[in-house]
Amino acid sequence: MNNLSKYWDNIHLNYKSSYDNWMDKYLDDIKKDFKIIELGCGRAYNSIYLLENGYNVIACDFSKEVISILNKELPSLKTKVFDMTDKFPFNDSSFDIVIADLCLHYFDEKQTINILEEIKRILKPNGYMIGRVNSSNDKFHIPEQAEKIETNFYYDGKIYKRFFESKDFETFFKDFKIINLEEKVMDRYEKTKILWEFKIKKV
Ligand SMILES: C[S@@+](CC[C@H](N)C(=O)[O-])C[C@H]1O[C@@H](n2cnc3c(N)ncnc32)[C@H](O)[C@@H]1O
Repeated sequence: MNNLSKYWDNIHLNYKSSYDNWMDKYLDDIKKDFKIIELGCGRAYNSIYLLENGYNVIACDFSKEVISILNKELPSLKTKVFDMTDKFPFNDSSFDIVIADLCLHYFDEKQTINILEEIKRILKPNGYMIGRVNSSNDKFHIPEQAEKIETNFYYDGKIYKRFFESKDFETFFKDFKIINLEEKVMDRYEKTKILWEFKIKKV
């Protein structure tokens, strides 16, 4: 994982974007005293937006570089460095909400299952996760020369990428209740990106 975190360190140093309003429709259901964790936060546009709106959030990533940038730029934002492929450094039932925006599609099947088990473990009963992942309809982002490792899972020579089909939500996310699942188009990157937006609840 060390090389991968270095890859992301480099991306974070050179790339900036902004919050794109995708979470707004979920905010009415998020109480101000809820404990929220954002996984794979990157520059933490989501966490910063939540913090600025009075929510209690901790922003996490395995890139030490990006967490150090966040700590310098916004010392009031709570942060934690950890690798999602390891056991999460939190007790069972610690959080009401997990946010996972474009960070759960880098893992092989076994790792994805383990990560989702960890997410379930740290969520409180009735807690839920909102997030976005690559869609398998996003052909533009499947690299031409990439090596296919598993169904819908590729290695492009630098990083691994998974592209989810709608049926994957019934298998990977089988221990959650799906509250909302929508395929959407995003314009953040140079090429239009097709993704799944989801809200799923711990059962
Ligand atoms: C495409 S970026 C998304 C960043 C942010 N969520 C956003 O939407 O702006 C993916 C993020 O996942 C993080 N990441 C990738 N693999 C990870 C891992 N194994 N553990 C923790 N974070 C990871 C990267 O450092 C990066 O910040």
